[in-house]
Amino acid sequence: MRRERVDWREGAKKRAALEAVKHVREGFVIGLGSGTTVAYAVQEIGEKVRREGLRVLGVPTSHQVLRLAVSCGIPITTLDEHPQLDLTIDGADQVDRKLNLIKGMGGALMREKIVASAAKKLVIVVDETKLVEKLGMNHPVPVEVLPFALSVVMAKVRKLGGKPVLREGKDKVGPVVTDNGNFILDVEFGVIDDPGDLDVRLKSVPGVLETGLFVEVADVVYVGGRSGVQRLLKR
Ligand code: 5RP
Repeated sequence: MRRERVDWREGAKKRAALEAVKHVREGFVIGLGSGTTVAYAVQEIGEKVRREGLRVLGVPTSHQVLRLAVSCGIPITTLDEHPQLDLTIDGADQVDRKLNLIKGMGGALMREKIVASAAKKLVIVVDETKLVEKLGMNHPVPVEVLPFALSVVMAKVRKLGGKPVLREGKDKVGPVVTDNGNFILDVEFGVIDDPGDLDVRLKSVPGVLETGLFVEVADVVYVGGRSGVQRLLKR
C-alpha cells in the first residue's frame, strides 16, 4: 500500500517537472532549485544537453543540485557572471491557489529566494499533495537564522505567535547547518491568512536571514496528479 503511494507521487513529480522543462530555450541561464521534484527537471535538462546539444547554463541553489547538475552534464555558472536569469525552476512544500508558497524543507530556501528574485520567470513543480487552501495548514514555515542570534530569534518568533523548533540533523547530532552555515527554525503558525504580512514581520527580526514564505513570486505552478498535470497561472 505504502509502496503504491510512493510510486504514484514519484510519477506525479516527474510529470510536473517535464512540463516545466518545456519553458527552457537555447541559451537560457537557469536557476536550479533544490529537492526531489526539481531533480527530475534537472535530469531532463541534462538529457537535452547530451542528446540535442542544448546550450544552457545553470545556477544551483545547494550542494545537492550542484552535484546533480554536474553529473547530468549541465554547465554551471554564478550570479556574479549572470545576475539576471532567464528562468528558475524549483519545487515547493505547500502551494495555495494564489501561487504563494512555503519552501525550505530541504534547507535551501535562502538561495532559492535569491534565484527566484533574479529570474524573469519562476516555474514551480509539485505533486498534488502540496496544494492547499491556505498556507500553514499542518505545516511549519522554515526560517533561516544566524546561529549567533538563535535564542533571541526564538523568543521574538514566539511573540509573533509562532512555535519554533530548531531543525535537528538525522545522520549527525546537533542542528542542521545550511549550505550558508546557518540554522533552520521550523515555525508552526497554524493557518496563515496573510503570508505577505507574516513574511515582513519575520524578516524584521534581527538574526532572521530569510523565510520560506514565497509571496506572489511564482509565475506558473505545475501540479502533477495521478494521470495528468494541472497548470496554475499567476492572475
Ligand atoms: C528546498 C525546497 C524544496 O524545493 C521543497 O522542500 C520541495 O522538495 P521536494 O520536491 O523534495 O518535496 O524548498 O529548500
